[in-house]
Amino acid sequence: MSELRVHGGTPLTGEITVRGAKNFVSKAMVAAVLGDSPSELRNVPQIKDVKVVSDILRLHGVHVERDREAGVVTMDPQRVETAHMAEVNAHAGSSRIPILLCGPLVHRLGEAFIPDLGGCHIGDRPIDYHLSILREFGARVDKLESGISITAPNGLTGTQVELPYPSVGATEQLLLTAVRARGKTELRNAAIEPEIMDLISVLQRMGAIISVDPGRVIRVEGVESLRGYTFTALPDRIEAASWGAAALATHGDIYVRGAHQADMVTFLNTFRKVGGAFDIDDDGIRFRHPGTELKAIALETDVHPGFMTDWQQPLVVALTQASGLSIVHETVYENRFGFTEALKEMGATIQVYRECLGGGPCRFGQKNFFHSAIISGPTPLHAADIVVPDLRGGFSHLIAALAAEGTSNVRGIELINRGYENFEGKLEALGAKFETV
Ligand code: EPU
Repeated sequence: MSELRVHGGTPLTGEITVRGAKNFVSKAMVAAVLGDSPSELRNVPQIKDVKVVSDILRLHGVHVERDREAGVVTMDPQRVETAHMAEVNAHAGSSRIPILLCGPLVHRLGEAFIPDLGGCHIGDRPIDYHLSILREFGARVDKLESGISITAPNGLTGTQVELPYPSVGATEQLLLTAVRARGKTELRNAAIEPEIMDLISVLQRMGAIISVDPGRVIRVEGVESLRGYTFTALPDRIEAASWGAAALATHGDIYVRGAHQADMVTFLNTFRKVGGAFDIDDDGIRFRHPGTELKAIALETDVHPGFMTDWQQPLVVALTQASGLSIVHETVYENRFGFTEALKEMGATIQVYRECLGGGPCRFGQKNFFHSAIISGPTPLHAADIVVPDLRGGFSHLIAALAAEGTSNVRGIELINRGYENFEGKLEALGAKFETV
């Protein structure tokens, strides 16, 4: 495990740049497999997830070239082929993206093998919606000892699906499968996150016919073939908000070049309610601690356009420094408060509850999950030895260590590389004091 020794207590100040969104770039790379000519994706960050998806595409015969500095990835899918199961399996547990290859690979090759998935441990993260969507299109899904095999001897045919919950991944699964299925597909209760809207734009450039109708309805008319695309990825609004929360927690002042207001409206409203200051211009957003007391808030995470679950963890660190009782109700993942244990060790006063606090009842209310938290602040944070639990929780621990008095050892920071480009370089640029151990 790689480790950082962090000397806290210095405000983070300065400028950093965010590039393309992790949760869009990986999906746009999968979409390239559907084309019969090469695609070019721009504004691609250097993060581990891009490497994992590039490697998996290469195993399937896609010629992938990356210009890391320029942030350009080109993908030529003209020689797509079935990968060796053992080689695909070597990627088991490294990412959740392979499940999205099902539709594109079945369209191109008639079959797909998907290894066991990875991703952060923030809940059970089932794939039942994905598998039932694939079956609705006429695919045969067989669970093997290590992964899933998908075949469709008669091809895939458009269908009507209503999701039990507007899942991001399941909506992407449907889009990536429906665009080349025979006939029309209708999806109700679809997710409409900005990253999904941009995936729809990518697919439209490739030749797909997709409409997004009021009330979370997506309609797709299948086409016989798709071509490659050129597209610039939207900026990473989770990373941008993470740096905003870091400015607040450390009494800092950070200009996030690339941050895009329209995708962050709900975060900005919440940031302002906590007392945070921000200035927006055409190139980015400057996030500042106001210099006066921060205020406690009640917050509920939700699907877009609500407050993103991925913003919750970094903001909770800032809420430990707000005056009064903050209530946070996590309604997207049932188990996203594990990271608060380390914050408590550092001096935060946080209690987690099974009940749905500070909002309406959610899916987890009757199920014994600790999915609400009450944070009592402000409490000074002190240094601790921490093992990073997951991507966003890990970044949050790092912010806490930077806000705390004293020297903390933060282990397992390679998890943070999955989604935050060059975060050590950015910390340095912001004046953070730390060493790699
Ligand atoms: N769900 C099911 N069954 C399914 C799929 C989802 O029950 O088959 C449930 C999940 O367990 C969860 C809820 O539906 O309770 C929402 O999950 P969703 O499918 O929307 O999440 P995802 O597609 O797996 C993506 C991001 C996450 C982000 C969520 C919500 C990627 C690679 N991941 O996950 O990002 O939190 O959407 O916006 O796009 C991160 O970046 O750190 C991260 C975890």
